[in-house]
Amino acid sequence: MKTFYITTPIYYPSANLHIGHAYCTTIADTIARFKRLAGYEVFFLTGSDEHGQKIQRTAQAKGKTPLEYVDPIVESFKELWKKFYISNDDFIRTSEPRHEKVVQEIFKRIQANGDIYKGEYTGLYCTPCESYWTELQLDENGCCPDCHRPVEKVSEEAYFFRLSKYADKLLKHIEEHPEFIVPTSRRNEMINFIKSGLEDLCISRTSFNWGIPVPGDERHVIYVWFDAVINYITPMFDKPELKKFFPADIHLVGKEIVRFHTIIWPAMLMAAELPLPKQIYGHGWLVTDGDKMSKSKGNVVDPVKLVEEFGADAIRYFLLREITLGLDGNFSRDALIQRINADLANDLGNLLHRTLNMIGKFQKKILLPTTEGTELDKSFREEAVETAREYRKLMENIQLSDAVKVVWKFIGRANKYIDETMPWKLAKDETQRQELANVLYNLAESLRIIGILISPFMPATAQKIREQLKISQEMKLDDAEIFGLLKENHEVGKPEQLFPRILIEK
Ligand code: MSP
Repeated sequence: MKTFYITTPIYYPSANLHIGHAYCTTIADTIARFKRLAGYEVFFLTGSDEHGQKIQRTAQAKGKTPLEYVDPIVESFKELWKKFYISNDDFIRTSEPRHEKVVQEIFKRIQANGDIYKGEYTGLYCTPCESYWTELQLDENGCCPDCHRPVEKVSEEAYFFRLSKYADKLLKHIEEHPEFIVPTSRRNEMINFIKSGLEDLCISRTSFNWGIPVPGDERHVIYVWFDAVINYITPMFDKPELKKFFPADIHLVGKEIVRFHTIIWPAMLMAAELPLPKQIYGHGWLVTDGDKMSKSKGNVVDPVKLVEEFGADAIRYFLLREITLGLDGNFSRDALIQRINADLANDLGNLLHRTLNMIGKFQKKILLPTTEGTELDKSFREEAVETAREYRKLMENIQLSDAVKVVWKFIGRANKYIDETMPWKLAKDETQRQELANVLYNLAESLRIIGILISPFMPATAQKIREQLKISQEMKLDDAEIFGLLKENHEVGKPEQLFPRILIEK
């Protein structure tokens, strides 16, 4: 069986997560679920990035140890992911002993290869971002180019990773593998970044101790980014049965951390003589009124409240449909409600409800034997199969939003098919009994197929559709490309509302 390994970034437990984080995890979950549906053996990883000066300082200010401070926050991450139906196979906390051990092993391996050395570091450090910058990289106010907060000058004995040595090798790899960094805009940025010159990277600190100690020199703790990216190998390091998953097929990351994943992480892997990931996908940000969500700006949307109000599937649908992966996208409550009412309650909800209702009313819930039917029936069936094929292509290309649109186009087609065939009229005419059976069967089958196709986006809704259609066996993607799998005389269930309409307050 083919394997597939996908990761999200591991999140900082410095504040509560917002809907922007849920966006990233939802995309990864959707891809993971799609791959499982397509028959791959999947490993999907997420986690929490717990070390560093910022966490230590915040914990101290609250009179807690770093672990006492982060434990409940990390628990809240795990609960949030459950609420969002995130199907991760493991969750790495960088404070876990299993991770510490791997980081130290990799450190030692790179050191033994001569690519870690001791020196003196004087530099500019942004504590909130845990990033070092050079004078040239600072913004116009001499602040951090990412978060625009002041940087600190630090000078200390430190360990360095020989990043500069890997510039040419990295450039060659990026140029020879166009799929390594996606989208192209990010790839070009990284090529320019490498061409402007790579300096060796300071990878240890002595000014605080909340981190993984440098093996053999415990006064130093390892730089939090060096520690964090290694989480991607932690689950499989000592597990022979999981080794087949490494390296990752996709590291899905936000655009501002592409640099760490496409330059530092691959160079570390080269230095440790390990294989490189196949792809790093840099997605855009979820913004509110054009501004990135962040706690300091006060424009965050709380995902827990949102799930309680609308349910995870509706939010997942909105995020995947509205935002083209790779570009920034706007989050708006009004737009979410409109999508729920129009696409979910109306288009999908009504299709299921009307179909089951008619099968119940006209055929006592039974799908009767069919014939080939009219030209319209034939083209409708062809369109269902064509939709599944098109969807597969788009999903394989990670064009998630386009894949959702293709499914909804077919849902629109199915609703129109009801209006065109008018089963309620056929039911009144004895001579049309066969045609009625054909139409109702075609509709039930199309819902079976729709249920498969939406399962990576909206797992709970897909499950409800299956239950209402009374499909007991597991369905795979291949089953969506075949029309006619529901058996003659199959009994369907009672229609139940999928999504209630939401009243918009003036
Ligand atoms: N801990 C590091 C990642 C280490 S990975 C080895 C980190 N954590 S983070 O919590 O600050 O961000 C995690 C991810 O969330 C990033 O990919 C970031 O782009 C993403 N997002 C944070 N805010 C976001 C939006 N408003 N919209 C979309 N994604 C956002 O960086």
